[in-house]
Parts: sequence; C-alpha cells; structure tokens
Amino acid sequence: MQEVMTEIKVKKAAHSTVGEVDLNNIVMGKKFTDHMFVCDYQDGEWKNPRIEPLQLIPTHPAAMALHYGQAIFEGMKATLGKEGTPLLFRPYENAKRLNFSANRMGMPSFPEELFVEALKQFTALEKQWIPTKEGSALYLRPFMYADEAFIGMRAATSFKFMVIASPAGPFFSRKIKLYAEKKYVRAVNGGTGEAKAAGNYAAAIRPTEYAKAKSYDQVLWLDAHDFEYIQEVGTMNIFFKIDGKFITPDLSGSILSGITRMSVIDLLRSKGFEVIEKPIKISEIIEASKNGTLEEAFGTGTAVGIAMIEEIGNNDFTIKFPENNPVSVMVNDTLNAIKLQKEEDQFGWIVEAK
Ligand code: COI
Repeated sequence: MQEVMTEIKVKKAAHSTVGEVDLNNIVMGKKFTDHMFVCDYQDGEWKNPRIEPLQLIPTHPAAMALHYGQAIFEGMKATLGKEGTPLLFRPYENAKRLNFSANRMGMPSFPEELFVEALKQFTALEKQWIPTKEGSALYLRPFMYADEAFIGMRAATSFKFMVIASPAGPFFSRKIKLYAEKKYVRAVNGGTGEAKAAGNYAAAIRPTEYAKAKSYDQVLWLDAHDFEYIQEVGTMNIFFKIDGKFITPDLSGSILSGITRMSVIDLLRSKGFEVIEKPIKISEIIEASKNGTLEEAFGTGTAVGIAMIEEIGNNDFTIKFPENNPVSVMVNDTLNAIKLQKEEDQFGWIVEAK
C-alpha cells in the first residue's frame, strides 16, 4: 500500500478576489475561490500534493479524459461553525465514494487520509469565501481525471486529482415539478449510475432540457427496463412520506449513494420515523395520491440540500403533493443547523477544517 503523504506544499495567490463578490447574493458555480488543490498520479503513485493559485491547467489534446471519459467528481459543502471555524460535512464519506467511483471507472484510488487533509487545508485557506447566510455554503468540488496523452482504449496511467471551490447560495427557492421520463434513462444495473462519473451527468443534460421545455424543473428517472420503478430525481435521491412513514429507493445497483441521502435516513430515524429503503413503483405513488395517504416528497443532494417536490407528471398522469410539508422543512432546517453548529451534532458528521 502506498505510504500516505500529507505534506502539502502551499503557494498562496498574490491577491484575493473575494472582495469582488457579494457572498450573500450568489449563484453557485460561477465564481471560484483563489486557490486549487492539485495532486499528480504517475508511475503508480500519487505525488506532489500542492495548493496553488487557481489557474488554467495545461492539457494535451489527447488527454484520455477528453476522449474516453475517465473523469469522476465529488460534491461537498463547507460552512462556518460557532467560533468561526470552517466545517466539513462527512468528508470521509466523500473520500470513500470517490474511490468507489474510481474503481468502477478504472482509475486509481486516492488515499482517504490525504483527501480529508487536502480538503481541510484547502478549506481553511479559503475560509473568507464561506458564506454565512443559512442555506449558503462554500461548495467544494474534488475531481479526478485521466491526463495521459494517448489514443487507444485502455485505462490511463496518469491522472490528476484536484479540488476547486465556489461559494453557493440556496439552490431552489421554491418547490419543484418533476417530469416522469419514459423515453430516456439515467442508469441501468451494471452500468455506471452508482458512480459519480462525469458521463452520467452528460447523458442527463438533453432529457433535462426536454423536461424544462415542458415546464418541469427536473427529470424523475425511472428504471431502464419497464419505466416502472423510481430511481433518482435530477441529480438527487428521492424520499416520499406516505401514511406517516418514509420510503426511498434502495441502492439497487444503479442509484448513487448520496451522502445527504444517508444523513437524512439517520436523521429521520433518530426522530422516530420509520424509513424503508425498497424498490418503489410510480404506481405506488399514484395510488397513495388517490387514497389520500401521500403526504410529502423531497429530493436530497449536496448542492441542493433538500428540494421540496410540488408535482410529478408526464402525458399520462399528474400527482400533486399537499402544500404543507412540515417534516421536510424540519429535515432541511435540522441539517442546516447541524452544519452551522446551531444544533448539536449527535451523529459526529462535522469535521473541523483546521
Ligand atoms: C451535488 O449535489 O453535489 C452534485 O453533484 C450535483 C451537481 C451536478 C451540482
């Protein structure tokens, strides 16, 4: 096993551009912080971990990620705690998931300790970029891609692992409408849907545009065989509350294991709710809507947090959700409060970045 090196060289940016940004009024993903973390994989090992000023990365036109898609990523959020300490949310889970994705895509594992140490040091350095408004955060984007110049179908031998960051305001400010898609699919068992692979997102772009053109906000992804079972929504996992109990699709082999998903399951159970992970047919939701037991629904994801659902439909049916969703609101508020250390972190999810 490769020895873990946590010595990270730091070269600071000459000037910070944080003063040009209104952190309380910002759209995620447009403005980036002053630095980036970079580590190179060559000759079978990760080398030269460093934090540098954010800059363009020289890329050979034959870089294999551009041709064969060996590219994976993670999403994380940093917040500021009580004493102004930068906080990370469950970073070891992101490290594990990155390596799950890397394995599926024929890419090398990144040492988990180095992942967390890099995220801590990088976040501490970018502390002034962390927005303080509730629901806002510094979105962290760890990613890995094949940078070997080669034309031919095999795993690359050189990669980069990097982290960049972008301040983010609350994502959806209103409830969302979902288009139950019956032509395109996101994932199939045995495919790459369980991995956070860049190509999964590319394949979702056109169907999402079609859904938006029909006045929906996101696609409700159904299974690839019968378009019967619910999988994910947009880039999120999904939860329904029916007759007092929560249900969410089980991780059947084509669903991303969301870190917000696993946190919401733990949180709901700690509040005394039953949460069942199982295959969920769309007909079950239609039936619950008809018999009046359908209570709430929401999507969960790092970028979005909790996205309340207003409607699911397509040409064949429309399901409207009740206007009040008190438990979804409680889940959202509790997660936000834990991330700001306004509520005790009884689960041990928070890791201080210092
Ligand atoms: C996240 O929730 O972090 C994601 O990866 C979704 C992304 C496409 C914004």
